[in-house]
Amino acid sequence: MTGAPEPSVDRETAPAKINLALHVTGRRADGYHLLDTLVVHGVAADAITARPLAEAEIDTADPVRVDLELTGSFAAGLDAGPDNLVLRAARLVEAEARRLGHRPCPVALTLDKHLPIASGIGGGSSDAAATLRLLNRVWGLDLPRDRLAEIALPLGADLPMCVHGTALRARGIGETIDLLPDPPPLPMVLVNPGVAVATPAVFRALERRDNPGLPDPTGAFADAEALVALLAAARNDLEAPAIRVAPVIGDVLAALRAAPGCRLARMSGSGATCFAIFADEAAARRAAAALATRGWWTAAGVVGASPG
Ligand code: C5P
Repeated sequence: MTGAPEPSVDRETAPAKINLALHVTGRRADGYHLLDTLVVHGVAADAITARPLAEAEIDTADPVRVDLELTGSFAAGLDAGPDNLVLRAARLVEAEARRLGHRPCPVALTLDKHLPIASGIGGGSSDAAATLRLLNRVWGLDLPRDRLAEIALPLGADLPMCVHGTALRARGIGETIDLLPDPPPLPMVLVNPGVAVATPAVFRALERRDNPGLPDPTGAFADAEALVALLAAARNDLEAPAIRVAPVIGDVLAALRAAPGCRLARMSGSGATCFAIFADEAAARRAAAALATRGWWTAAGVVGASPG
């Protein structure tokens, strides 16, 4: 075929954010809760692609237009309008680009949505974070991740951790981040029973907001044994209130704990998605397949390498 080359398409993965442990340690004057949480990313993901618009597509009235198209198994639950977190993230990067004297080119974004919506694994936040990383690259801004995390915070407390996208400990409401080494390989299953849980309702149902912080994770990333031992001594403080809001979460946890090879099962974030660490990948895949027969969304994989 002859003619102009296809404009290049750039792609960024938006992995699930998994809170291995989450302690609620206090509350700020504005009502936001102080957290101490250990986070890894992976197992399942959305993806964002960016295609610079061709000359003929550019609208002179709106030259920096960012279009959004939705694809994927969970696309139907979302709206591609201006309130979509992906477009809100794009506007924040665009403002930063202009502040720095850049002239960002118009792009068409596609969000390929595979993570369940409002499910405690940071789907929307991870999409927004991936958009920030992607447009930072496409527009040649070269902003460090710390700056992207700062820009992103107004979009949600989970944004900074999702911008980093690697193993980390987050404190404050999520803005204070300590990066950790890559975790040891963790064969894992994610299960979501299809109930969207509203985060504010879960925080409201908390009985205690002044719990102690996490045990020191330094050294616990040496091997899976040490990490599971550390996690067993930690909790997700949102798990009990989330089960009161959506009792099916208790059924998911019981089913995961009963699956052969399960070493630890816990809810992520404010739910309803739960994760479990398995003895090996084959056991994780068997458990995911078995639990999917109950009509639940499941994913299996090995967490342990940085998504880059
Ligand atoms: O930050 P995000 O938009 O995910 O938070 C949704 C809601 O969850 C907030 O409006 C707040 O009610 C509650 N929240 C909280 N403390 C946090 C994070 C969220 O109370 N650290």
